[in-house]
Amino acid sequence: SGPCDLYASGGTPCVAAHSTTRALYASYDGPLYQVRRTSDNATRDIGLLGRGGVADAAAQDSFCAGTTCLITVIYDQSGRNNRLTQAPPGGFPGPAPGGYDNLADATAAPIGIGGHKAYGVYVAPGTGYRNNNTNGIAKGDQPEGMYAVLNGTHYNGGCCFDYGNAETNSRDNGNGTMEAIYFGNNKVWGYGEGNGPWIMADLENGLFSGVNQRYNAGDPSISHRFLTAIVKGEPNHWAIRGGNARTGSLSTFYNGPRPNVPGYNPMKKEGAIILGIGGDNSHGATGTFYEGVMTSGYPTDATENAVQANITAAGYTTSPSGPGGLTPGSKVSLRATTSCCTDRYIAHDDAGSGVTIAPVSASSGSTAKSGATWTVRAGLANSSCVSFESADRAGQYLRHANFTVRLNTNDGTAQFAEDATFCADAGHNGQGHSFRSANYPSDYLRHYKYGVYVAGQGGSHEWDSTTSWNDDTSWAVAQPWA
Ligand code: AHR
Ligand code: AHR
Repeated sequence: SGPCDLYASGGTPCVAAHSTTRALYASYDGPLYQVRRTSDNATRDIGLLGRGGVADAAAQDSFCAGTTCLITVIYDQSGRNNRLTQAPPGGFPGPAPGGYDNLADATAAPIGIGGHKAYGVYVAPGTGYRNNNTNGIAKGDQPEGMYAVLNGTHYNGGCCFDYGNAETNSRDNGNGTMEAIYFGNNKVWGYGEGNGPWIMADLENGLFSGVNQRYNAGDPSISHRFLTAIVKGEPNHWAIRGGNARTGSLSTFYNGPRPNVPGYNPMKKEGAIILGIGGDNSHGATGTFYEGVMTSGYPTDATENAVQANITAAGYTTSPSGPGGLTPGSKVSLRATTSCCTDRYIAHDDAGSGVTIAPVSASSGSTAKSGATWTVRAGLANSSCVSFESADRAGQYLRHANFTVRLNTNDGTAQFAEDATFCADAGHNGQGHSFRSANYPSDYLRHYKYGVYVAGQGGSHEWDSTTSWNDDTSWAVAQPWA
């Protein structure tokens, strides 16, 4: 399912769903965005590789080959036609002809998602998207939620890198006339802990980090490369949440009443949608947007937590194909290459946390096949490396403990992340990969007497034996058995 399927089952359906990277409904099979090339001003819709899947970036690459492409439309997957296009002039004119804002360079924010290439929306100062004539977006004091996945390392202090609800005339209509996610390190109106950047709510004439006008201790600096940012609001109640869009859960940075400043209770939302700009078309800010939605109704934390799990499973990475050609989100089986054992794959036991190399073949049962199948994840401790999540025991990863490899549930600790992260080198015997331990970099994933360990060549453990070390530490990345 997609994020909007989860919001719908939570009773707070998406009324706008924007992404240049993936479908936000399992059933969506339409265009994600439109590009225009400068060579002949022709436009092309960029769709999906498959229903409910990820963007067909290759279509953009071939259409834009040898010229420049700009993102002209970000379609609305919700069916309400709340698409985003070039923002018109408002309180401030934009830098493009007619006072419009600039359009984003379609190739400026390349990333990987689910093992495929995709592009985000790169907002340089002057860039902005807007829809002032929407359908179904919250007005007045009506409840709404929103999330966005952003590049947490691309920001500035300009006003205002926003995504969400704003004024329908592109002007500052007073306190409470907007309600949008803000991301950046602007301190003019509000700020949180540290030096920023912060996720805040742009409520007009104020970026709010909590109930107070300026400083609120609960809102941390947060700069994950892929950042999930959430703002939601209902009568005299709102919240800020956030987390790492690649792994882990959401934290709540504020959850309480409207700011203790006149004009924000009740709210006077107008229901336009902005991306990359302030409500009055202030366009000094920078940032990168990958996906985001707005809902009807105030989503529960549980719904948002399910959405976060969906986002982390989507497999955002900084490079289109993952480390060592292992693409996060894809499934693999890991076959031993020692001559004894070329019919054996790293597998977990049927019960318990043991891990061995076990024989698997086409005629094996489904339990044996799924036990030998792993979902590649961006390394929990280092996204240049990988982690292996069990295909049939979600949330459980291969990790070493006392230099023995086991299958354990990710407990979210830094220790676990390190123990479960392996960096792919060329295979020591010339085949496949050797997987270096992130925290014991002279130790590699090795089988020994059919058990699986992290082993250093000629070290003190029995399994550090130099005999067939090169072969025992080399793994063929095979098609997944399940
Ligand atoms: O609230 C901060 C900013 O103030 C808004 O985005 C903009 O409309 C106004 O300048
Ligand atoms: O793991 C199977 C074999 O056991 C290894 O190839 C060898 O190192 C050990 O004897």
